[in-house]
Amino acid sequence: MAFTVAGLLSFLVGFMVSDQGWSTSAKRLARNVFLPTPPEPGLQARSISTGFLRLDLQPYRLSVSRPGEGGGLTSVGDDLLIITHDGAVIRARDNTIESTRIKPPENHFDVYKAEADSGKYADLRHEPLGFRYNDVLYFEEDSAGHLIVSYTEWRPGLDCYTNTLARVDLGPVPVDLGQVDIDASDWVVFFRTMPCLPLKSTMRALAGHVAGGRIALRSPGRVLLGSGDYHWDGLYGPAVLAQDSGGDYGKVLEVDLATGDGRHLSLGNRNVQGILVDRYDRVWAVEHGPRGGDELNLIEAGGNYGWPLATLGTRYNSLPWPTARQYGRHEDFDPPVFAWVPSIGVSNIMEIEGFDPSWDGDLLVSSLAAQTLFRLRLRDDRVLFAEPIEIGDRIRYAHQHSDGRIALLASNARLIWMSRSETTTVMAHVDRLIEGAGFESGRTSALRTAVQGCIECHSFEPGNDGSAPSLGDVFGRRVAATPYSEYSAAFRLLSGRWSEGELVAFIADPQSYAPGTTMPASSLSAEQVNDLVDLLRRLSQPD
Ligand code: HEC
Repeated sequence: MAFTVAGLLSFLVGFMVSDQGWSTSAKRLARNVFLPTPPEPGLQARSISTGFLRLDLQPYRLSVSRPGEGGGLTSVGDDLLIITHDGAVIRARDNTIESTRIKPPENHFDVYKAEADSGKYADLRHEPLGFRYNDVLYFEEDSAGHLIVSYTEWRPGLDCYTNTLARVDLGPVPVDLGQVDIDASDWVVFFRTMPCLPLKSTMRALAGHVAGGRIALRSPGRVLLGSGDYHWDGLYGPAVLAQDSGGDYGKVLEVDLATGDGRHLSLGNRNVQGILVDRYDRVWAVEHGPRGGDELNLIEAGGNYGWPLATLGTRYNSLPWPTARQYGRHEDFDPPVFAWVPSIGVSNIMEIEGFDPSWDGDLLVSSLAAQTLFRLRLRDDRVLFAEPIEIGDRIRYAHQHSDGRIALLASNARLIWMSRSETTTVMAHVDRLIEGAGFESGRTSALRTAVQGCIECHSFEPGNDGSAPSLGDVFGRRVAATPYSEYSAAFRLLSGRWSEGELVAFIADPQSYAPGTTMPASSLSAEQVNDLVDLLRRLSQPD
C-alpha cells in the first residue's frame, strides 16, 4: 500500500466534496484502505498474441502519493527513468524498481490546491487530477547527461498557469542514476508558454489533462513541445487559442535549448499527446480529438491542422462541434494522415527499432480508452495498416528502452515491460530447421502447412503445455507425460516413449492408434507426416 492511512485521509478530505473526479477515486482508495487488499490480478505476467509476434507482458506497481495519471518515460543508459504524474522520479531495469534522489522541478501544485481548498475561487470548478508532470527526456550534450521535464506550472502570485520546460545537468556521462542527487532548486526553467493562462469559469477552471505537454529532441539543440489548448476552444473555454498565433497553446513548438527561444512549427492542434521525430527527421504528432477523431498528423512547418474549425469528432452529446465549419469532415486545413473514429484516446507515439524484424520501422501508438496499442505500418507518408494489440490497461506512454524492450506506463501507476515471447523465437528456430532441411520448395511449403495445423493447438516451446502438450521436446518423451491437465482416458492408458515409428503411426491416424483420443485426425500425406516427425526429432536435438 503506497499511502499511509493518515496522509491519505487528510488528503482525501480536501477534495472529496468539491470534485466528482476525486470522489470516484476517493471511493476506490477508501475501499483499499478498509478492506483487506486481495493480491492484484493485474500484476501477473502474461502473454498475448499479435499478427506476427507473441508478446510477454510483465507489470509492476509504482508508488505514488496521490491519484492521477500522466508522466513519462526515458532511457538513461541501462536504466529506464520514469516520472509519474505527481513527480516521483523512479528508475527501473530488469526486475527492479527503485526510487531515485531526483526531486522534480517545483510545479506549485500544493499552492494551487491550498488556494482552491481555501475557497479563494469558490465559484470555479476544480479538477486537480489533471494537473501533472507531462513528460521527461534524457539527452547528452558536451559529455554530460541532462534531463528535461515538461509540466503544468502554477504561478503563485500571478494566479495563472503555463506549460513549462525545465532542465537539469546530471553530470558527466555515463550517468549513474544511483549517484545523482537533484533538488527542486537545481532545475532551470528555460521555457514557459505565453500567455500565462487564468483560471476559467467555463467547465474546469484548469484543464490540466488537455495540456498535451509531450516533448521530443530534435537535433541539433532543439526540443519540440506539443502544447495543448487546455480546453480554450470556444466551448469549454472563453477563447479559441489554437488558431491564435499570438499565443503558444494548441501548437507544436520548437524551442532552442541554448536560448530558450520558441517558435510555432504548426497551429490548430488540440491536445498533442505524443510527438516523435522519426529516422527521416519527419515530425509526427498524435492528438486527442473531441468525441471521435483522434488524429495522427505529419507536422510540417507552417501547417494548420484545423482545430477547432475542422475536426472529425463531435461533442460528447454527438452534436456538431460548434466552431467546426462542417460536420464529420476535415476537408480544409491540413488533414490528418490517419484518424481513429470512434476515438481510442491516443496517448503517445514511438518508432520501433530493433524489436523484431517484422515490426522494425513501424510506429506504435498507445491509447487510454481503447486500452490498446496500434502498430502502424507506413509507406511513404501513408498508413498501410493499424494493427490493434489489446493490452487491457489504459496506456499513457510507450517507450522503447535501450535493451530493446518496450516499456508501457499504464494507469493505476503501473509499468509494463513488453518483450518478444520465447515462442516467437522458438518459431523462428522451427522455421530455420524447415529451411535447413533443403527440400525443394513444394515439399518445404507442405511441411510449413502441416506445422501451421499443429500450432492451432500445440506450442513448439518446451514446457508450454497450456492448451495441448508441447511438441518442442516430444521426441523420446514418455507418452502423456507433460503437465497438460486434460489428457484423455485413452491416452492415460498408453505407455512407452515417442519414437519415430510411434509418432508416425499416431499422427497419421490418431483414432486407430489410441481410440478415444481427443487429438483430431489431420489429412496430411505420408510425406508430410514423415517430414513432420523428422522435424520433431531435429527439434529435440541441440544445434
Ligand atoms: C485441435 C487441437 C490439436 C491439433 C490441431 C493437433 N493436436 Fe496433437 N494433441 C492434441 C490433444 C488434445 C492431445 C492430447 C490427446 C489426448 O489426451 O488424447 C494431443 C497429443 C499429441 C501428441 C502426444 C503428446 C504427449 O504428450 O504424449 C503428439 C505427439 C501430437 N499431439 C502431435 C500433433 C501434431 C504433429 C499435430 C499437427 C499435425 C497435432 N498434434 C495437431 C490436440 C491437437
